[in-house]
Amino acid sequence: MRIDLAGRTALVTGSTQGIGAAIAAGLARSGARVGVNGRDEQRVGEAVARLATEVPGGSFVPVAADVASEEGARQALEALPQVDILVNNLGIFGSADPLDISDDEWRRYFEVNVLAAVRLIRQYLPGMTERGRGRILNIASDSAIVIPAEMIHYGMSKTALLAVGRGFAKEAAGTGVTVNSVIAGPTHTGGVEDFVYELVDRDLPWDEAQREFMREHRPQSLLQRLIEPEEIAHMVVYLSSDQASATTGGALRVDGGYVDSILP
Ligand SMILES: NC(=O)c1ccc[n+]([C@@H]2O[C@H](COP(=O)([O-])OP(=O)(O)OC[C@H]3O[C@@H](n4cnc5c(N)ncnc54)[C@H](OP(=O)(O)O)[C@@H]3O)[C@@H](O)[C@H]2O)c1
Repeated sequence: MRIDLAGRTALVTGSTQGIGAAIAAGLARSGARVGVNGRDEQRVGEAVARLATEVPGGSFVPVAADVASEEGARQALEALPQVDILVNNLGIFGSADPLDISDDEWRRYFEVNVLAAVRLIRQYLPGMTERGRGRILNIASDSAIVIPAEMIHYGMSKTALLAVGRGFAKEAAGTGVTVNSVIAGPTHTGGVEDFVYELVDRDLPWDEAQREFMREHRPQSLLQRLIEPEEIAHMVVYLSSDQASATTGGALRVDGGYVDSILP
């Protein structure tokens, strides 16, 4: 299968690092012009420079904006007035005692992980339906389904994001625009190595360390290793392609079998 996204413009929120950066690289490799987003102009500039080295000939547009705010969504629109592929990747996470999470923190998780995506969908969906084609992807998490007791606020936001995806897919029914969620599982992003080495023998080489970590602390994973950001990106690139035209309203898993269910 050859995926050709030439002539398409994508916006990947939260793409200065981690899964977002891998998605930006993957879309650019398939020919899309990609908006790289983060809150800080300098960090966005550095990410664009890194991505340009990683994907020679790739086309990247810096989009420095806090897209969790109305103002930030407007700034994104100024930088990229027309978007064919919107990837709502931005997401914050952290653990907290469920009884200690404040109202403000609940609201912050909803604002950043859910409302930011809704706002951008509202902003870009009408243009997509007018043109009769478009792709919207929301990056959810295994925590949307397997709610961790120490991350209820995060789980709630990701479950809500699945609902948002399903609902907007109905809104876009019959237009040529598809809306899907990607359920990412435990992924090898920045900071994760330190976290792993806090829990397993520091002398183990990375490959063995992560396998031990998964066996001991994430035994539900059938993959028994962390997922690489590129593996999430492959699914996003596929769902962004013309070939994925019959997949909409879905939640597709790249979770290494972490969620113990046959249905997605
Ligand atoms: N990592 C995992 O194991 C895992 C598992 C399942 C699902 N996920 C989901 O995958 C997505 C990406 O996770 P990740 O681990 O790759 O994230 P990450 O490494 O923490 O990166 C977050 C990105 O978001 C940007 N960002 C943060 N707040 C922003 C805002 N208000 N406006 C614009 N950009 C903002 C950051 O850029 P600046 O700091 O430069 O602004 C950064 O580029 C999230 O939705 C997460 O919930 C992750």
